[in-house]
Amino acid sequence: MPKWLDNAVFYEIYPQSFLDTNADGIGDFQGIINKLDYIRDLGFNALWINPCFLSPFGDAGYDVADYYTVAPRYGTNEDLKRLFAEAHKRGIHVLLDLVPGHTSVEHPWFRESMKPERNEYSDRYVWTDSVWEAPENMGCLRALSQRDGSCAVNFFTCQPALNYGYYNRTRPWQQSPEDEGPRATLEAMMDVMRFWLTMGCDGFRVDMAMSLVKNDPDGLGTIALWQKVFNVLEREFPEAAMVSEWGEPEKSLQGGFHMDFLLHFGPSHYNDLFRCQEPYFSDRGLGDASKFVERYLESREKAGKDGLICIPSGNHDMTRLAKHVEGEEKKLAFTFLLTMPGAPFVYYGDEIGMRYVENLTSVEGGYERTGARSPMQWDSCVNAGFSAAPKEKLYIQQDPAADRPTVAQQLPDPDSLLNFVKQLTQLRQAHPALQNRGGIHFVSNGAPKQALAYEREQAGEKLLVAMNPFREAVAFPYSGKLGEALFTFGGAASQKGEAVQLPPVSAVIYRLD
Ligand code: GLC
Ligand code: CA
Repeated sequence: MPKWLDNAVFYEIYPQSFLDTNADGIGDFQGIINKLDYIRDLGFNALWINPCFLSPFGDAGYDVADYYTVAPRYGTNEDLKRLFAEAHKRGIHVLLDLVPGHTSVEHPWFRESMKPERNEYSDRYVWTDSVWEAPENMGCLRALSQRDGSCAVNFFTCQPALNYGYYNRTRPWQQSPEDEGPRATLEAMMDVMRFWLTMGCDGFRVDMAMSLVKNDPDGLGTIALWQKVFNVLEREFPEAAMVSEWGEPEKSLQGGFHMDFLLHFGPSHYNDLFRCQEPYFSDRGLGDASKFVERYLESREKAGKDGLICIPSGNHDMTRLAKHVEGEEKKLAFTFLLTMPGAPFVYYGDEIGMRYVENLTSVEGGYERTGARSPMQWDSCVNAGFSAAPKEKLYIQQDPAADRPTVAQQLPDPDSLLNFVKQLTQLRQAHPALQNRGGIHFVSNGAPKQALAYEREQAGEKLLVAMNPFREAVAFPYSGKLGEALFTFGGAASQKGEAVQLPPVSAVIYRLD
């Protein structure tokens, strides 16, 4: 278990949209390097960068054409290496995005795999043995090759599924994870990891980590596969950190992942908090966090205490937080995100409350996700300081609103969301109880019109965190004794007998005596 994860706080960068330094309208590695001080000063000490490899960009880079070469639009492999070094100088670790489930149709492996003559790559992808047979429950590519067969797709049609075998096999063309083809696929992916880890990367966010072994309803085959990967990684790169896009920590952490995300899909009730008709963090008080809390505790119990359950503010696949949680409510959402156990992940721009841009035409397979991927808003210069390219050339059009939030406007304002986030990341770093491995005990579960409150504890320190998003005061039963207030927003709590009362739209953190 990499030690640096004990207090890692992550910032997710969608490289296309962060900062463009050569006026081609697309963000680049130099742009990320230029903003490392900003990231560090905000209190983040780790990055996740979305895929930056050679790709035809049918799915924004999640369709990789060469795992060993970065896309020229971002720079060169040498630039990325420099980014690692510059980040490390500032105490920042960097995760790349590994896409092991599929490649682009342009990947040379796939080109070879389409050939009718058997070759090294014939079994690299999931193929049926007749073009007339499609793999069950999956899309497929057919009649694009002379090879007689249909190739399973893992996500979009431009993303043929790499072959890691089938858990339950019912057809002769379905291979076992132990067969030569699937084993070679896994070995090839391990080599990709070795390459970047050796160059200075600190680990990976793993795309669709749950998707590798097919016909695997309970994930047992995929869990076993990841256990194999971690046996090797722990030996060769013990400090490498891995976070899965899985959304079921009880499975992914068992597979050996150090961290798993709670996501907008899956059983976690994550959406109840920030992304539904009536999110819990809205001052209407109609939202309900209690199912989330119940599932969270179950997952924690089943996953064991070593792995981290990570709650993101958003990501490149979901609408922006600011679309659902408005105004000062966002500060309560961040109080939650930055005081929970697990490593927090903040999506670029969420720290200033960047809006979801409505009604955009899809860019690079983004569809409704496009509005959450618009370029970062740095200042009030042209294109909000993102790029010197003509506006029409920007990768995605920016929020057209005159009052769009920017970093420059929020930095000097002590009441800004940006400074709120900064204050909380600093508090988190100063208090072991708030950090990634600290314990949690809920004392109020965020039912409608109720506070969300929990005790956090680690290394002899014990704190109470409590939030009331509702526009009226609320109270919850509590017999612990509140000590010094470490943080208050919207007013202090008051303790009367066996109850704690919170003012409307407020958040507090107290030391417990
Ligand atoms: C993951 C990525 C998403 C991508 C998909 C296919 O969900 O986060 O952006 O489209 O996998 O790789
Ligand atoms: Ca550029």
